[in-house]
Amino acid sequence: MDKVTSIHKLPPGPRGLPFLGNIRELQGDRIKFLTRNRDEYGDVVFFRLGPRRIYQLNNPEHVQYVLVKHPEQFYKSPALKRAAQDSLGQGLLTSDGDLHKRQRRLVQPAFHHKRIAAYADTMVEYTDDMLKGWAAGKQIGILNEMMHLTMRIVGKTLFDTDVYDDADSIGKAISVGIEATTDRVSRPLQVLDKLPTAKNRQRKQALNTIEQTIARFIAERRASGEDKGDLLSMLLMSVDEQDGGQMTNKQVRDEAITLFVAGHETTANALAWTFYLLAQHPEIEQRLVAEINQALEGRLPTMVDLARMPYLEMVIKESMRLYPPAWMTSREAQEDIQLGGYTIPKGSVVMMVIYVLHHDPKLWIEPERFMPERFSPENEANIPKYAYFPFGGGPRVCIGNQFAMMEAQLVLATILQRYRVELVAGQAVKMQPLITLRPKPDIQMRIK
Ligand code: HEM
Repeated sequence: MDKVTSIHKLPPGPRGLPFLGNIRELQGDRIKFLTRNRDEYGDVVFFRLGPRRIYQLNNPEHVQYVLVKHPEQFYKSPALKRAAQDSLGQGLLTSDGDLHKRQRRLVQPAFHHKRIAAYADTMVEYTDDMLKGWAAGKQIGILNEMMHLTMRIVGKTLFDTDVYDDADSIGKAISVGIEATTDRVSRPLQVLDKLPTAKNRQRKQALNTIEQTIARFIAERRASGEDKGDLLSMLLMSVDEQDGGQMTNKQVRDEAITLFVAGHETTANALAWTFYLLAQHPEIEQRLVAEINQALEGRLPTMVDLARMPYLEMVIKESMRLYPPAWMTSREAQEDIQLGGYTIPKGSVVMMVIYVLHHDPKLWIEPERFMPERFSPENEANIPKYAYFPFGGGPRVCIGNQFAMMEAQLVLATILQRYRVELVAGQAVKMQPLITLRPKPDIQMRIK
C-alpha cells in the first residue's frame, strides 16, 4: 500500500468553545442557530457538539444522497438511540440494518392503502365525538385538544382500545418524555442520564405511565387470544416470511410504543399549526371552508370525498412546510463519504434540518409566507426534490405518511364544517423544537 495520507478539508462553520463546541447554541435557540449556519456557511456546515463532529447538510441533493441514494452508508445516530433506549427501545424509528429491515417488513401490512382506508371511519367518528364537547365561545388549548384526538385515533385504529379516560395522563407523560429525551440527545455526556436528578425521575415516571398503557394493550390482547386484524394482532402473530421468526415480547413492546407515540404526536402538531395559520389567514380559511361545504353538503366526510377537496391537501402540505412536525433528522456515516467537495469521515453525524430547507429563500419564493398555492399540482411539480420532505424519504420514509395525511384531512374537514377557531388575543406563540416541533405554550383559541 502506498503511503498517501489524504488531508481532509473541513467545511466552514461556526466557531465553538474548546471541548464543548457549539452545545450552548444548540441548547438555546436551535432553529436560529441552524438557520444562521445555512446563511453564513452554505451547503455543508461543520460544527462540534462536545466530541461529536456534525455536518449540517443544507442542499436538497445532499439530503437525497443520504436518505434515498445511499441509505446503506448511514445509520440512525447513536445519540438518538442512546437517548431512546429505555423508551422507544429498538422500534422502527431507532433500529438499523437487518433488524430494521425485518421489523419494517412485519409492520408494513398495517399501513397498506386498503387497511388505512378502513381507519377513516374511526378518524371521523372520534372527531365528531370530540365536537360534542365544543361550543361557540369556549376557549381551548388547540394542541392539547388535537393531542387527545389523535391519541384516541391511534389507540383505536392500531390497538383497538379506547384511551379516552387515560388521554390526559398519557399526554402529560409524553410531553415530559419528549422534553427529557431531547435534552439527552443534545447532551454528549452519558453519565448525567443515570443520576437521580429531578428531571431523570420525572422522565422515569413518565415512561412508566406510557409503559403501563402499552402493557395493557398487549396483556388484554394476549388474554383474549383474538385476532382482531389490527396492528397489535399483526405484531403478536406475525411470522416473517423470510426467516420464519416471530417478534419477541420486548420487540412487540418497542414497536407498539414507537407506533403509539410517533402515530399521534406529529399529526397533532400538524393540526395545531394548521389551525394557527388558518386563524391568521381568513381568506385562505374561507376558501377552504367553501370547498369543504361544497364537497360534503353537510355530510360527515369519508375517504372517497378527499379527492374532491384538493385545496384541503394543499393547505396541510403548506402548513407542514412552515411548521414541519418532525423538524430535523440525522444519521451517522458508516464509512468515509464524499459530499459537496468534502470528506465526511466515518463516525460523524450528518444533520438534515427539515425546517431549514423548508424555509430556504434559495428554494422558495417568500419562504415565510403561508401560500397553499405552492402545492397546486402545477406548482408542486416544480419544487426541487428534497426541498420539501416532512416525512423524510427513501427506505426509511415515514411508515405512517398516508395515515397521517388522511387523518389530518378528515379531522380538518369534520371540524371546519361546523366550527372555526380564532386566536385568543395577547398571546405570544413560540416554536419549541424538541424531537417534534411544538407550539409553546399551547395556542389558546376560541371556538366560533
Ligand atoms: C404529520 C404526521 C407525521 C410526520 C410529519 C412524520 C414524520 C416522520 C419523519 C420525518 C420520519 C423519518 C425520520 C428519519 O428519517 O429519521 C418518520 C418516520 C417514522 N414515522 Fe412518521 N410522521 C408522521 C406521522 C406518523 C404516523 C401517523 C405514524 C404511525 C402511525 C408514524 C410512524 C413512523 C415510524 C414508525 C417511523 C420510522 C420509520 C422507519 O425508520 O422505518 N409517523 N416520520
